[in-house]
Amino acid sequence: MNKIYILLPIFISLFSNLSFASSPKSSLISDYKYSNGINNTASLQRGAKYFVNYCMGCHSLKYMRFSALAKDIEVEEELFFKNLVFTNKKIGETMAISMKPSDAELWFGAVPPDLSLIARSKGGDWVYSYLNTFYEDDDRPTGFNNLVYPNTAMPHILVSLQGSRKLVLDSYNNPVSFEKVSDGIYSEIKYQKMTNDITNFLTYVSEPAKLKRHSIGFWVLIFIFIFTIIAYYTKKEFWKDIK
Ligand code: HEC
Repeated sequence: MNKIYILLPIFISLFSNLSFASSPKSSLISDYKYSNGINNTASLQRGAKYFVNYCMGCHSLKYMRFSALAKDIEVEEELFFKNLVFTNKKIGETMAISMKPSDAELWFGAVPPDLSLIARSKGGDWVYSYLNTFYEDDDRPTGFNNLVYPNTAMPHILVSLQGSRKLVLDSYNNPVSFEKVSDGIYSEIKYQKMTNDITNFLTYVSEPAKLKRHSIGFWVLIFIFIFTIIAYYTKKEFWKDIK
């Protein structure tokens, strides 16, 4: 068979990707890229604080224990309790919440999902752009819609910080940009930094062992390196009389 036929599917997939990447909707979303920094403890501390203050009213992290979190983000338990635990929970408990799913369904029309694994299932960029692409929409019960999660039931709970924005469409009804309607308490840069911290925190939560794995991995590689040298010279020593 002619080689060109084998290459054809590859060419087609190349171009289909291109056309997807250049669609205005995805290009507006792809303006929002999360910068990963799970080794940045200060960012994780801020992210945890924001999460507890702004998200935990509705979302649980049922696989995360307060004690493990306090240790990983290097906050002493006493300080941690004073600043991050508002209920009568104990340090060994998980970050569950007391909102009943049936109440949530009634209030929001959807149950706020547990976010323990969200950054792993949808990716950091998705979470980050979700928090950054709320826009005014009078047809929605909350008054806001979202570009990455159309018709989301979640209210734009950070609107007082970000300010309100409208979506600007081109003549084909494709989203091209956001237009500010009212200022928030935060500047755009500060809001992006905050949402990046939250995303960073959720990325850490979705795989807490990653922090340890990175530091253990480093020492394992050093060990293998040193051991290789030792093994090499041992082999040389053993075989030197046999030749
Ligand atoms: C007032 C309650 C409420 C608060 C506070 C809230 N959310 Fe939500 N959130 C919801 C609801 C309800 C949904 C489900 C939306 C749907 O499925 O349509 C949701 C969905 C989400 C999703 C998508 C989950 C998925 O499986 O697709 C993410 C991510 C999210 N919220 C993050 C956050 C973050 C981060 C915060 C804090 C900054 C926050 N939420 C605060 C109610 C809330």
